[in-house]
Amino acid sequence: MYKGIIFDLDGVICFTDRYHYQAWKKLADERGIPFDEEDNKRLRGVSRMDSLDIILEKADRAYTDEEKARMAEEKNDTYRALLEQMGPADLSDEVRNTLRELRNRGYKLAIGSSSKNTKTILARIGLSDFFDAISDGTNITRSKPDPEVFLKAAEFIGEDPKDCMVVEDADAGIEAACAGGFDSAGIGDAAANAKATYRMRKFSDLLEIAK
Ligand code: BG6
Ligand code: MG
Repeated sequence: MYKGIIFDLDGVICFTDRYHYQAWKKLADERGIPFDEEDNKRLRGVSRMDSLDIILEKADRAYTDEEKARMAEEKNDTYRALLEQMGPADLSDEVRNTLRELRNRGYKLAIGSSSKNTKTILARIGLSDFFDAISDGTNITRSKPDPEVFLKAAEFIGEDPKDCMVVEDADAGIEAACAGGFDSAGIGDAAANAKATYRMRKFSDLLEIAK
């Protein structure tokens, strides 16, 4: 029934959502800004600068734009240092085999991620050349919950949103999918989102959803 499947990256294809959290946590702890796993949920799917603004809601002073730019850079440096540990073994067999089977079934497969580090991560886990299209933080002006990143992904694979499904772990991503006219499958935190078309317990559930 679907022609294309658009995957979020962090927290869907691989566990880099953990590294985002660790990098933000370090930055917040060093400045005495309260930040925990619960706060982190609001950061899923949103851009680096929007994430920083959410963290700074709990800061006890205001930060200038210049300070914020430096903080975002510092977080990204910490994050990229964590990415250096990653290799092809960090793509789980379950995700690899599911993606291959979906490809064999004839679906067009794309990435729709807010991250500007998407291509670095795909290279690390050995998926640089796998997807039919990559829409990421480098080709959008508005981050999720705006649908731009998914609409671009659909355009890149030449399919209409109504013929594509989005796979997401973030509430902001499910919102974005709805706003763009896409069906969506929620995994992790987003599995509890009432707006998701399908709820996944594990990545390979996609083989039941996309037959
Ligand atoms: C999303 C993550 O995929 O990318 C967010 O869920 C992150 O947590 C966003 O802020 C931007 O990522 P990056 O790598 O450009 O800082
Ligand atoms: Mg995600």
